[in-house]
Formats: sequence, C-alpha cells, structure tokens
Amino acid sequence: MALIGLEDIPLKLILFGGKGGVGKTTCAVSTALSLSKNFKTLLISTDPAHSLSDSIEQEVGTQIKELRGIKNLYALEISAEKALCEFKLKYKDEIKNILDSSTKLDEEDIDLILDLPIPGIDEVMGFKTILDLIEEAKFEKYVVDTAPTGHALRLITLPALLDDWIKVLARMRWKYRFMVERFSGKYNPDSSDDFLLNMKKTTKKIEKLLRNNLMCEFIPVTIPEDMAILETERLINVLYNYGIKVKQLVINNVFNSHGCEFCRTRSNEQEKHVKLIAEKFHNLTTTIAPLESKEVKGIESLENFKKRLFSNGK
Ligand SMILES: Nc1ncnc2c1ncn2[C@@H]1O[C@H](COP(=O)(O)OP(=O)(O)OP(=O)(O)O)[C@@H](O)[C@H]1O
Ligand SMILES: [Mg+2]
Repeated sequence: MALIGLEDIPLKLILFGGKGGVGKTTCAVSTALSLSKNFKTLLISTDPAHSLSDSIEQEVGTQIKELRGIKNLYALEISAEKALCEFKLKYKDEIKNILDSSTKLDEEDIDLILDLPIPGIDEVMGFKTILDLIEEAKFEKYVVDTAPTGHALRLITLPALLDDWIKVLARMRWKYRFMVERFSGKYNPDSSDDFLLNMKKTTKKIEKLLRNNLMCEFIPVTIPEDMAILETERLINVLYNYGIKVKQLVINNVFNSHGCEFCRTRSNEQEKHVKLIAEKFHNLTTTIAPLESKEVKGIESLENFKKRLFSNGK
C-alpha cells in the first residue's frame, strides 16, 4: 500500500513520529515534496535536534524559508526553547502580577517561581507557532517531523498539564477578584486576566486541532524490529487514549527479498516482524518502504524515496 488520503482538502496537519532513527525525517520530507506538487506546503521540524537541513541539504532555520528549486515548498525549524523565552519575555509581568496580588510571597520568591520550568510550556508555545500559521491559512498543508517518541508525546500530552497550571493561576486570580469586588464593589479585568484567558484558549485550540481527525493525522513510522514494534504500539495507544486516531503507518528499512544472500537472510528475518506488524495493527493501512542501498538524503534521493511512499509516483 501507499500513503493515502493526504491530499484530502480538510487535512491540514500531518505529523510523522516514531522511535529514534526509524526514518521520520525522511518520510516527512518525502511527503512534503509530494504534497508540494499540488499544495502550498510547509515542512516543519519540532525536533530539538533538527535534521531537515541535513536531509534536504539546504539551510533551514527558525524563519520560514522557501526551498531552493522546489516550487510551493517551505521549511521551518521550530525552537521550543526560543518560543519559551519569547513567552517569558511577553508574559512575565502578567504572571508576576497574578502571584503578587494573590499570595504573600515576596519579590524574590516570585522571581524564583518564575524561573521554575512551567510544565509543557515550551512545547505548547512551539505548537502555538503551528496553530497560528494554520489559523492564518498561510499554507495548505503542514507536514511535521517530530522528535523521537518520548519527546513527541510530550508535545501532544502536555497541553493538558499546562491546563492544570493555568487553573491554579486562575483560582488565585479568582480569589483576588472576589476580594476586590467585596471591598470596592467593582473589578476591572486587566492584562493578567487577558493572559489567563488567552492561555486557556490556546491549550484548548491545540487539543481540539490534534483531536480533529479530518484536519490532523499522525503517521507512525516503524521498522521491522521487536523494539521498534513495541514502541510503536505504546505510541499508538497513547495517541488513541488522547483522542488522536491513527489510520496508517510506514514500515521502513525493509530488505529486498530478491537481493543478495545477505539481503535474503535479512528479508526472511524481517518477514516475521512485518507479519507481526500487520497482525498487531490490522486496522491500519501499512506502507512498506524498502531499505535503499544508499542513505536517503538530498532532493534527488528523496524524490525517489517519495515514489516508494506514494504509489501514484508523483
Ligand atoms: N529506507 C531507507 N533506506 C536507506 N536509508 C534510509 C532509509 N530511511 C532512512 N534512511 C536513512 O537513515 C537515517 C535515519 O533516517 P531519518 O533521519 O529519517 O530518521 P529519524 O527517525 O528522523 O531519526 P531521528 O530519530 O534521529 O530524528 C538517515 O541517514 C536516512 O537517510
Ligand atoms: Mg529525524
């Protein structure tokens, strides 16, 4: 089978995920190349160890850039760390104000709290960049190359954790508001209230987008090996529990059964794993991508790999 349905108009966001080194970047870039034939496409990396530049052999950075020689294809590396710095710079006063007006903490304590990591905030802010771009409808398709499983799942499950953090701040604010209303009879919301409302809206919007099966699809990439299969199973379960439906997966690095003796032996070995994948994930469409004789990097090689993922050979 080949990857299917990615050209459906409502589908905007396609995320590739899986264990380290299984071919996530290669599949994401190849898919973006394919989609760019008909759609204005943005290829995004959320992996802190970005490797789009190495794969495409063109410099990609934290600003959206049109790729040289490929019409309709743009790329961006999102830095969650940078997004977090920007967040702190933008909202430090508002958070400080909430803590200051609702607690007996002194300035020094408040500064200490602000320096503590806020759960999920870097991932959420990174994802907010994608959300904003989708809302602005700058592109027709967004293809995301995520970091290996653990990190990618943080990206997906942390908005809920951040939501709890916002709730605590909102409760503090609510008590403060109650006191002010009690004593002065009137409460005028300020920028701290706006901040809480905006944060709440952002986390909800991210969750809604990720759970929208028409707009967003997560495609796991795996290889025919025990450990990768187990990790894929865990990944799919977490996604499922979160409300993200997986429809298809890629099995990469599959040996050619008609090759040399070594290839045939490896192919036999892999065959039982491919069967196991088919059994375990019988409700998913699987696309088999062969192990190429050379590393898949550079546009020519990726264009070739793309044909393996999309049977229509575009
Ligand atoms: N089918 C294939 N045949 C040959 N080489 C491949 C194939 N798929 C991927 N590769 C190569 O394997 C290496 C790892 O692939 P890739 O970077 O896409 O994996 P990844 O899952 O993104 O890794 P990471 O977890 O480190 O981000 C790369 O050098 C890539 O060119
Ligand atoms: Mg990668």
